[in-house]
Amino acid sequence: MAIQPARNLDLSAALREAERRYIEANPESKRRHRAACEAMPGGNTRTILFYPPFPVTLARGEGAHLWDVDGHRYADFLGEYTAGLYGHSHPVIRAAVETALRDGIALGGPNQIEARFAQAVSERFPSIELVRFCNSGTEANLLALSTARAITGRAKLMAFEGAYHGGVFFYAGKGSPLNVPFPMVMAPYNDTERTLELIEGEADDLAAIIIEPMAGAGGCIPAEPDFLKALREASTRHGIILVFDEVMTSRLAPGGLQEAVGVIPDMTTLGKYIGGGLSFGAFGGRADIMERFDPRRADAFPHAGTFNNNVLTMAAGLAGLTEVFTAEAVRELNAGGDRLRGRLGEVMSRRGVPAQVTGLGSMMTVHFRAETIRSPADAAADNQTAQRLFHLEMLLGGFYLAPRGMISLSLPMTEADFDGLIAAVEAFLDLHAPLL
Ligand SMILES: Cc1ncc(COP(=O)(O)O)c(C=O)c1O
Repeated sequence: MAIQPARNLDLSAALREAERRYIEANPESKRRHRAACEAMPGGNTRTILFYPPFPVTLARGEGAHLWDVDGHRYADFLGEYTAGLYGHSHPVIRAAVETALRDGIALGGPNQIEARFAQAVSERFPSIELVRFCNSGTEANLLALSTARAITGRAKLMAFEGAYHGGVFFYAGKGSPLNVPFPMVMAPYNDTERTLELIEGEADDLAAIIIEPMAGAGGCIPAEPDFLKALREASTRHGIILVFDEVMTSRLAPGGLQEAVGVIPDMTTLGKYIGGGLSFGAFGGRADIMERFDPRRADAFPHAGTFNNNVLTMAAGLAGLTEVFTAEAVRELNAGGDRLRGRLGEVMSRRGVPAQVTGLGSMMTVHFRAETIRSPADAAADNQTAQRLFHLEMLLGGFYLAPRGMISLSLPMTEADFDGLIAAVEAFLDLHAPLL
């Protein structure tokens, strides 16, 4: 028998009651989490995947759906934080990986795929004349920023308050004690005047400015085009290397968000879906910068990485980018996302709840907050209890999305999946709107 939700007097009581239903519905996930705690701190090896009281353990995925170990089926609106763009077991990606597997992995030399993949990547993204591969978005940013420091001979880096550029580039709240010890200048996102002041004051010491053209983890908050243009002009004026972290946003237009806003950085970092769903990172940019990695040069920068050209990622990434995520598919996926974001926003505003949906195309975040959101700092003031309740209710209803309300779409999703999500949000509001 389905476990019935009860009417509650306040949000905290509603959350406790939703947690009770969640625990009751997920005994096997609870058991697996307990067992995982014996070998991993908190049963976890990737902090973001934990949420209280314990996360569901996933058993498998197919197309746009996931199944957990208690047998629940979910429409996968998380899309592995944008890395799952192709959905689960896309036939083209699968065939490419199977072929690569057949021919042997860990070859220990240049293979037949990597140069074609590099070509596809550089043809696609306007700023990338030459590219190098690595294994994660974090590593890509570490390499791009270290390159900028080495090229300019300057020490400092500018990033934006609330930004996330990887496990050692965590600038939300108080940041992380594990951050790389680069001297950072932190600037306010989308605040052109203050940012330009900071640049002018630090210009002689600034090697690079790194920005996500839409803050993803920070709440799917687009950078305003004029703000990006101002960064471009100031960087050029002062010889600062402008780095766009397009680890997430490269999916938003055929040439990445840089193409859509018409601001071309000096370097770009990539990750997530570009590896076809396998571990991946890349950094690239202007030829005069990237040529410093040419190993035939006496002054070449060394760049190591055992798995940089691993054949499975190279094969999956090449097949995905050239055969599946074509320019037309990019436009279609993002148009679907714009429609869904519009529908979600409409449902929220019709009910008059203090909530909104920000984002672009196939990436969006549901915020429980009425005030305008222009920066990750604004989003940090979202109602966290409402957010947690929303997340648990969505899980209980069969919709898998990020605890912080982030949604990223995948190619196998259909209009029926969108309709299902809208109905689940309506049901959530029927039950809880007065408490929000
Ligand atoms: C914008 C951005 N940059 C970098 C990263 C780090 O990528 P990875 O998790 O592959 O290290 C992420 C991951 O979420 C990201 O969202």
